Amino acid sequence: MSDPGTTGAPANPKPPMALLAELTYRCPLACPYCSNPTEMTGRKAELTVEQWADVFGQAAALGVLQVHISGGEPASRRDLEEITQAAVEAGLYTNLITSGVGLTAKRLKALDAAGLDHVQLSIQGVDAAAADEIGNYRGGFERKMAVAGWVREIGFPLTLNAVMHRRNLDRLEETIALAVELGARRLEVACVQFHGWATLNRGGLMPTREQAVRARDTVAAARERLRGVLVIDFVPPDYYARYPKACMGGWGSVGLNVTPDGQVLPCHAAASIEGMSFERVQDRGLKEIWRDSAAFNAFRGDAWMQEPCRSCERKTLDRGGCRCQAMAIAGDAAATDPTCSKSPHNAALRAAAEADAVSGAALIYRESPA
Ligand code: SF4
Ligand code: FES
Repeated sequence: MSDPGTTGAPANPKPPMALLAELTYRCPLACPYCSNPTEMTGRKAELTVEQWADVFGQAAALGVLQVHISGGEPASRRDLEEITQAAVEAGLYTNLITSGVGLTAKRLKALDAAGLDHVQLSIQGVDAAAADEIGNYRGGFERKMAVAGWVREIGFPLTLNAVMHRRNLDRLEETIALAVELGARRLEVACVQFHGWATLNRGGLMPTREQAVRARDTVAAARERLRGVLVIDFVPPDYYARYPKACMGGWGSVGLNVTPDGQVLPCHAAASIEGMSFERVQDRGLKEIWRDSAAFNAFRGDAWMQEPCRSCERKTLDRGGCRCQAMAIAGDAAATDPTCSKSPHNAALRAAAEADAVSGAALIYRESPA
């Protein structure tokens, strides 16, 4: 195959569209699939309301259109309402990503008054026993159902987010039915990605190949059946796929992430890449970090790619897959994503996934920092 040509990092990259604002790593739930890092900073290191307001202003000036307010559990911050208002005042579309635990009808009304645009509620299971086993938080399911009701009463558009894995994929039909029952406009069926804390739980959560195939068919049928009622986004389990997805839409292309203590990352798991350092909003402007920092430029263009990506006709589609997965499995962030069938690590990855899927390992629950 002929080399389709390579390009270096552009001097003036297009502006990002979305900012993931991780307000805190604190969380009352303990989901074993969490993508937050295993080493988490605590409350004392968190950015203040004023610092977040400055970040949002810089993000809007840079061209960001929407902010996903996340964590950890963002409602663990008592000043969530003020932070949300700061994002609204910066002119950003605001989406709150929450487990619902820590929200009350009163707080949701205050968020509405602050200008919040959209709520994305996570569900860990379709009933209390299933949900509370994963979140390791008794009463969490009832709380979510109450939050969904208040969200509906206030009139926020609601997206449900369901991380799917071996323990709940057989209940995907019920998950879709629950989304319809709760009046969600959109459901994200996100098969677990093994980043951060989740890497400790490959054995406890890895789906079987059969589950992966059934999930794809179930989603396809439901999309047809629920056309005009519910939009379903589907993130398939990539360890059984032929080609990887373009993680983050490409490194340093469409989004950026600010951590609770102000680090600016190209994706939520980037800090797992050994030898790479990331700048902080306290030290440098967001625009300069986006445009000029070594970390953001490391995997822009395609001159950094190795074979087989470098001469592959799909490289502009998937950008070589996920850098963090390449680091975690191949030990080299510039390697072809091992979930690609062309990767020299792919056979070992698939064998490990199939072994994990029958391992029966116990769950290792996420811990919350102080
Ligand atoms: Fe994508 Fe690289 Fe695989 Fe080609 S070889 S499909 S560019 S990951
Ligand atoms: Fe970091 Fe995919 S999660 S590039």
